[in-house]
Amino acid sequence: GWRHGHGPRPLTFTSVPPNRADAITVPDGYAQRVVIRWGDPVLPGAPAFDVHNQTVASQERQFGYNNDFVAVLPLDGHKEHCRSALLVANHEYTNEELIFPGFTGHDALTVEQLKIAISAHGLSIVEIERIGHSGAWRLVTHGRRPYNRRISALTTKFAVTGPAAGTASLKTAADPTGRKVIGTLNNCAGGVTPWGTILSGEENYNQYFVGADGAPAEAKESLARYGFATTTRYPSGSRKWDRADARFDLAVNPNEANRFGWIVEIDPTDPDSTPRKHTALGRFKHEAATIEIAKDGRAVAYMGDDERFDYLYKFVSHKKYRPGQRKHNLTLLESGDLFVAKLSYSSPESEIDGTGTLPSDGAFNGGGVWLPLVKDGVSKVPGMTVEQVLVHTRLAADKIGPTKMDRPEDVQPSPVTGRVYVALTNNTARAPGAKASADEANPRNNNKHGHILELIETHNDAAALTFTWSIPIVCGDPADPKTYFAGFDKTKVSPISCPDNLAFDPSGNLWISTDGNALRTPEGLSLNDGIFATPLSGPEAGHVKQFLSVPYGAEACGPVVTEDGRSVFVAVQHPGEIAGATVENPASRWPDGDFARPAVAVAWRPDGRPAGV
Ligand code: FEO
Ligand code: CA
Ligand code: CA
Ligand code: CA
Repeated sequence: GWRHGHGPRPLTFTSVPPNRADAITVPDGYAQRVVIRWGDPVLPGAPAFDVHNQTVASQERQFGYNNDFVAVLPLDGHKEHCRSALLVANHEYTNEELIFPGFTGHDALTVEQLKIAISAHGLSIVEIERIGHSGAWRLVTHGRRPYNRRISALTTKFAVTGPAAGTASLKTAADPTGRKVIGTLNNCAGGVTPWGTILSGEENYNQYFVGADGAPAEAKESLARYGFATTTRYPSGSRKWDRADARFDLAVNPNEANRFGWIVEIDPTDPDSTPRKHTALGRFKHEAATIEIAKDGRAVAYMGDDERFDYLYKFVSHKKYRPGQRKHNLTLLESGDLFVAKLSYSSPESEIDGTGTLPSDGAFNGGGVWLPLVKDGVSKVPGMTVEQVLVHTRLAADKIGPTKMDRPEDVQPSPVTGRVYVALTNNTARAPGAKASADEANPRNNNKHGHILELIETHNDAAALTFTWSIPIVCGDPADPKTYFAGFDKTKVSPISCPDNLAFDPSGNLWISTDGNALRTPEGLSLNDGIFATPLSGPEAGHVKQFLSVPYGAEACGPVVTEDGRSVFVAVQHPGEIAGATVENPASRWPDGDFARPAVAVAWRPDGRPAGV
């Protein structure tokens, strides 16, 4: 069984039951409100949002679409009970059918509309303020707001750092230096560094490009491995961004593909700073990066490549973190070693039956090694240069045999124990005879509901080259005997499906948001996504409880539990994203009762106590 010792206080709230409400549902005794919505002002002078009169100029000054990662950074020097903070949000992608009234297909969008969609990608940084002495927050809409910033896929300039910067595969006609990229795309989750910057992962950027079948023959293996449609030019489902900007046509600009797929770093306290794309951390479908400082001071970034059968990575900086030396710390992610995880198993293969049955030792667990891809500036992959390993990291990893995982999403070290948690969302393609069938670390074929993996670095040192692992949570309906909740009484556990984003509260409870709840009502209807919390040790370990649910058709992102524990932020992404829904005929009318608007909300306890405990 799983660990039961001393641990954080139990979570006292009453679980929110699974539901299909077009609302944020919080436990009794809690309240919630919207903090910022798509179209709300970011830069001073932003026009009031008008869904019928959108322009590029307005979107460039307004909150973008489909908020995903959220960070809340205290502004007034108090980690606890601060009154003022910066809220940073990723804008992962757009739903043109829910953005433009009268939408009849991407072919019919005007170039201005295409550019509005491009501009609605990126990030926003806004000032927020506490309401009274409560755990509630609101957007600041007055005053100078010097840190407020829109980082847009349409106009914001990024600098490229690291060994692949300036190399041939990053050069284009528009940027012969290979060091300057316009925009960031499909920013999914992220992290806050110990030196106060924001990291953000460029994930499914392949979807914005067309024409890969017209790219040079030598580019096609990589384009195919990253999911670019190399056989169907101008695929029918494409976003048609090539009509707005030829750089999205790979037949004309094949290297433009290589300029996305990075971890980007943004300094939210310097609105004039140039955001950077760090090639030393490799190029894949980056979910996120989270930093832990190794025992010797090096910065370690944990990273998932969110695709079925893809890998778990980590980067270890060459230089050491120096507390308080911001200028130095801003260079940490520019050079270092890159590794990919290979897991080993404690139980015989014959005991892994692919359904989730625990093996005879009572645990899905084992050891593992971090296989080097690049070390001390040298490629460790036969036949590939450092530049090739960093730009075509998936192809490089394929050559050295890491473990094919069930969609590694957020990877989050516990600030209390240093143990590292990996959300493995799902993998319905895992099967005998497929790319991989069930193994001890991905123990279910047709894994619809996902699981959570715990990784303990040797000597609890983030820079270690070996580790042990176990699976504390195998998600699904707790009535399903093939689910597992750290051995906790399953009659008390909330159903949970498709873990995506992870966070910790100050006492070390794990908070989990879900994406794509595959559980259904008895009538077969879909259930809303939500945010869940569970202790990881002590007698309540594995007692997963649903803290909130998001509106119909939405995905729950974030979450953030503030350092005083009193506020839980949730990004409500793509409310009403249901086939056939439009602005005029919405599947969700959240939050304003008319049409759906992605928004970041906050939940708190009006009695002033910390959330959860
Ligand atoms: Fe954008 Fe991996 O979710
Ligand atoms: Ca075992
Ligand atoms: Ca995600
Ligand atoms: Ca997500």
